[in-house]
Amino acid sequence: MNNSRNAVVIVGGQWGDEGKGKVVDLISPAFDVVARFQGGHNAGHTVKFEDRHFALRLIPSGICRKGVLNVIGNGLVVDPRALLAEIASLRAAGVPVGENLKLSDRAHVILPTHALLDGARESALGGANIGTTSRGIGPAYESKANRSGIRVADLVDPDRFVSLARPLLSHQAAVLSHFYGVEAPSVDETIETYLECGRDLAPFVADTRALLHERLAAGARLLCEGAQGVMLDVDHGTYPFVTSSSCGPGGACTGLGIPPSVIGAVVGIMKAYTTRVGSGPFPTELFDETGERIRNRGNEFGTVTGRPRRVGWFDAVVARTSLKVGGLDAIALTKMDVLDDHDEVRICVAYEINGRTVTEVPARSDQYEAARPVYRSFPGWKRSIVGLDDLSKLPEAAKAYVAALEETVGAPITLLSTGPKREETIVRPGTVLDAWLSPARR
Ligand code: GDP
Ligand code: IMO
Ligand code: MG
Repeated sequence: MNNSRNAVVIVGGQWGDEGKGKVVDLISPAFDVVARFQGGHNAGHTVKFEDRHFALRLIPSGICRKGVLNVIGNGLVVDPRALLAEIASLRAAGVPVGENLKLSDRAHVILPTHALLDGARESALGGANIGTTSRGIGPAYESKANRSGIRVADLVDPDRFVSLARPLLSHQAAVLSHFYGVEAPSVDETIETYLECGRDLAPFVADTRALLHERLAAGARLLCEGAQGVMLDVDHGTYPFVTSSSCGPGGACTGLGIPPSVIGAVVGIMKAYTTRVGSGPFPTELFDETGERIRNRGNEFGTVTGRPRRVGWFDAVVARTSLKVGGLDAIALTKMDVLDDHDEVRICVAYEINGRTVTEVPARSDQYEAARPVYRSFPGWKRSIVGLDDLSKLPEAAKAYVAALEETVGAPITLLSTGPKREETIVRPGTVLDAWLSPARR
């Protein structure tokens, strides 16, 4: 058993899109391996530096750093076509992808019928839909849980793939046709396409669990990159308006095959306000001009689907839930600069539900829909903090907002992001990320 606690887990602390890609890319040079542990190409993690811009979906956000090994863990559901397209687009942009990328042989494969089922079910739900990314994520995890799923190890063995895929594709085609009137592509064509994908992906496939254990035993430092966020977690999020995987640090253990004892720190990424894509409860949502300003200034449009993101004030009830569920050691606060031009900024400290003050997220989404935010208000700083890299240069009102967030959430803020690029960041001295980034720890 390795007890060196050489792994750091990064999770989203809200409803996704908190800036995980930026933070992972920024700190990845301090690690030997970066590993995604759940989700699929529903994720869109943005990495920006110089004049370059990458929207990563399946490939970990350490891919732009030399010498870092990137692992797609067993906990993911992988559409082989999407992964190959992502590899091709990175290579076309001059980012080498080869020995620095490994794909778990235990990851599950998304078939075209999974995506069609996702879309068909959403259409059938009409106005009550979840607002999924229609990528087949939920149906693929369903196949995994009901043990009819196909894994990457099966995909790269043509005979085995054909024997497993044919009955599953035929069954799903029948369901699509019978219940939804949707015609699936021909089973033979799909098999042909996927066999070709299997051939192309074979060089990347590895027993990543064994690889990670080997590397950890040799003293390597591992950065685990979560997708989505704790409020989209299938157990602890706003069910059923969630994704179908475990987005917290527990997901890193199951989704990579590593024990909790190797985790040295968990950092939750949170925006200085809140966003959500898709349907579901969102107590602090703003429908007015203030929300519009935040959406436009924060460029809050989906990385994957281009949908406008719903926008609202920071919700400390949500943040405290993530803190507890995720055991967060610290918060990395992003997009502070987006709030630069407001007279006042707000933090939701509790909810009122049917006349009662509540500080826990209710289990039932219909009850959560009834929650009204109880706010504390703070003066805005009304000065640009875009690109600031030094804590002492922050306006006093911005410092007060940061202090209020730390107090209401109950966790230290280890990093403050003041723009999308690497250098637009303040790492606070003496906090957990500062310690991990320090050359002395190497
Ligand atoms: P992720 O899914 O958590 O990786 O987040 P996304 O990449 O989907 O969305 C975050 C967006 O905010 C991206 O467009 C980032 O480039 C951008 N971003 C990240 N940090 C900051 C920041 O501190 N300020 C601003 N203005 N943009 C940021
Ligand atoms: P990153 O990793 C924000 C949301 C979808 C929908 C719900 C279920 O970039 O933060 P799914 O396709 O997963 O079945 O959709 O989850 N969702 C995300 N929202 N960021 C994401 O990923 C998301 N991945 C899924 O919008 O509401
Ligand atoms: Mg995203």
